[in-house]
Amino acid sequence: MGRIKRAGYKVLVVTVDVPTFGYRPRDIKNGLAMPPKMNLRNIAQMMQCPSWSWHTLLAGVPEMQTLKPYMPKNMPTSELANFMNNTVMGAVDFESLKVIRDNWDGPLVLKGLVNPEDVAQAVALGADGVVLSNHGGRQLDVGESPLDTIQTIKHQYGDKIKLLMDSGVQSGGNVAQAMAMGADFTLLGRTFVYACGAVGQHGGEHAIEMLTQQMTQVMGQLKCPTPTHTASLFKSWTWRCLISCRESIRHHKNKAPQSRGALSIKLCR
Ligand SMILES: Cc1cc2nc3c(=O)[nH]c(=O)nc-3n(C[C@H](O)[C@H](O)[C@H](O)COP(=O)(O)O)c2cc1C
Repeated sequence: MGRIKRAGYKVLVVTVDVPTFGYRPRDIKNGLAMPPKMNLRNIAQMMQCPSWSWHTLLAGVPEMQTLKPYMPKNMPTSELANFMNNTVMGAVDFESLKVIRDNWDGPLVLKGLVNPEDVAQAVALGADGVVLSNHGGRQLDVGESPLDTIQTIKHQYGDKIKLLMDSGVQSGGNVAQAMAMGADFTLLGRTFVYACGAVGQHGGEHAIEMLTQQMTQVMGQLKCPTPTHTASLFKSWTWRCLISCRESIRHHKNKAPQSRGALSIKLCR
């Protein structure tokens, strides 16, 4: 925690939803490994993207820079999964979180909660925020979607703790939907990973521009002058719209959710 402070971070986010690696059939099927393994299929794919391949080769073998200071010197990359499993994995309980809370005087956010009972404990612990998240559906395949519980949580704890949400949010419209359902704001994972993977740092900036434009457009359609007004829709949202939101965000596994245009049902006052 001292290192985090010295690095200038103000908010500490502790992920609590990955006690161990999830079962990921796609990773197995695609041969995802550290260090990356080359086969005829991915060599053929790389040849179709010469610029990307060239820049990726120039960048060298990917490494976990933040973990490096804690790794044994000259540890082979093939040992990385074992090292991570032994070092950063394991169930996090509220007792260990209390130790963190007592030693971190800045804002503390717990990431990876979905059910209201856990949020109640987070409030009791003195956390400043929670990220309602099922890790983008990337770990526990049968995990509940935060959209199933966010409204209950907003009703019960919305005035006691900040509610952030992620998992399947991929457009400005999705951000508006999540906010209308109770999120104070949202986080996005793969959207930025894909954008940066495609065109580097500029990809991230481009994604932000697109999201801002989409969100502004949705706010305009709803006559909401600010994102906070979008959040006020929470109080007046109709069940039809909720069902639309759920369909578009919850089944997000590797598919971009489609906007259903259901946001025009209620307008901001
Ligand atoms: C490649 C990748 C690596 C991730 N690594 C972490 C991680 O180390 N810690 C963490 O809390 N979440 C991690 N996540 C999960 C994201 O923080 C986030 O919860 C999730 O991606 C949100 O869903 P979305 O991708 O649909 O936006 C990772 C996600 C991706 C795509």
